[in-house]
Amino acid sequence: MFIHVSEVSFGYKKGEEILKAISLTLRQNQFTVIRGDNGSGKTTLGKLLVGILKPDSGSIFIDGRKTSQMSLGEIGKQIGYLFQEPERQIFTSTVGEELSLSLELNNEKDSSQQDRVTELLELFQLLPLINQFPFFLSRGEKQRLAMASILVNQPKFLVLDEPTTGLDQVRRRVLSELLLAQRAKGVGMAVITHDEEFINRLADRIIVLEGGVIKSDTFTKA
Ligand SMILES: Nc1ncnc2c1ncn2[C@@H]1O[C@H](COP(=O)(O)OP(=O)(O)O)[C@@H](O)[C@H]1O
Ligand SMILES: [Mg+2]
Repeated sequence: MFIHVSEVSFGYKKGEEILKAISLTLRQNQFTVIRGDNGSGKTTLGKLLVGILKPDSGSIFIDGRKTSQMSLGEIGKQIGYLFQEPERQIFTSTVGEELSLSLELNNEKDSSQQDRVTELLELFQLLPLINQFPFFLSRGEKQRLAMASILVNQPKFLVLDEPTTGLDQVRRRVLSELLLAQRAKGVGMAVITHDEEFINRLADRIIVLEGGVIKSDTFTKA
């Protein structure tokens, strides 16, 4: 699978371009990190990739299909997206329900689904919190819940906006391992992050945004 961004420009206000004719191709077999200063447009680019924002000009293609001709649901089945603020993707009144909802939204009813929910709750150390009201979780716990809700649908590609924010050292490590395991299964990754240790450990490719354009695009591993 690949995501192709072709000459995409975007601004929140008329005459104020945040991204200026950006072109790039994200491939499933490259662990891609997107970095850049605060306000450089990383979150904006992430939202464009998953169709939450629409380009002012240019196009985005997922496996050759224009995202402007796909519904958010269709895109969401293929690409799991983690918001920079995890509370934006938490909707239910308990941790357990959150994962079930995520499955229902995708109409998935196979027999292994409950196993997967339990497995993910365990993996993200959320089982003890299964009946908790998500609103009262810590930032890191919300982050883990949001990640679990994304992974329960087994997307082919992940776009993660600052996934290590709010996680302690141990849980950052757990997340790295988990993402490596996802990659080994063939899941593609575009991760927005400043976390040096995380980048050094995981990135195959680093894209730097600056002033609305791609300042550099480098491959870190042969
Ligand atoms: N909803 C919005 N409305 C208007 N301006 C916005 C909005 N979201 C972000 N911006 C502006 O767009 C620019 C890029 O923001 P963002 O994509 O969040 O950057 P980053 O994630 O790299 O910090 C910033 O100048 C920010 O203030
Ligand atoms: Mg951001």
